[in-house]
Amino acid sequence: MSSILDVNPSFELEEKSYEFSGHHLKISMFKGAYLGVSAFIWEPGLVLCRYFENENIDFIGKKVLELGSGTGIVGILAVLLGGNVTLTDRPYVLKQIEYNVLANVPLTSRHRSNICALAWGDDQNNFSNDFDFILGSDIVYNPTQFQGLLQTLLHLCSEKTTVYMSSNVTAREGSVNFHEHLLPRQFNSELLHTSGSNFIYKLTKKVPRSI
Ligand SMILES: C[S@@+](CC[C@H](N)C(=O)[O-])C[C@H]1O[C@@H](n2cnc3c(N)ncnc32)[C@H](O)[C@@H]1O
Repeated sequence: MSSILDVNPSFELEEKSYEFSGHHLKISMFKGAYLGVSAFIWEPGLVLCRYFENENIDFIGKKVLELGSGTGIVGILAVLLGGNVTLTDRPYVLKQIEYNVLANVPLTSRHRSNICALAWGDDQNNFSNDFDFILGSDIVYNPTQFQGLLQTLLHLCSEKTTVYMSSNVTAREGSVNFHEHLLPRQFNSELLHTSGSNFIYKLTKKVPRSI
């Protein structure tokens, strides 16, 4: 039986290696496949992975969803750290994520990974709101997407959900506005960690006040 790993794509694959929490990751980027920003490994993702390692965070038995997975590096680490993880992005990015999941997640753990299309503002209603964790690295960079991203976060989160969001606050247009003004209207936001201009925030949904 052939798998996506057997397919020799007509475009170039660029592979980078990392080690987090004792897991060796080989992440491929589909260069020349017109994936735009999705075909890069961005610093906020690496900073979030290192944070999970340094804080000994695991996701054992937890239901996790990643928004804007790109190469899938963060979601893949979350699977390797024990989570039941749904990795999501726009439809045309899913083959790259699948490639990296197959290359990095052993067969014995693969049933804990799921790859789905989720375009913010459009597809969130296809998902439940019973996630323990939502992850998002370098997904705050395009102000035209902020409304859809907020709608998506509001739909996916219950008051029990923890969101880890890692953003480059100087390189990305509107990122400060999103984190300092837009999100805090509906989420409690705590700055957990900084590494250069990459900031990791922990968010929880505000409980509506009863009258
Ligand atoms: C800068 S990349 C970051 C990728 C990855 N999280 C990382 O840290 O390397 C942003 C990702 O968000 C996804 N994205 C942007 N707008 C989106 C939208 N409206 N709906 C779903 N995904 C979106 C892009 O396709 C891309 O994969």
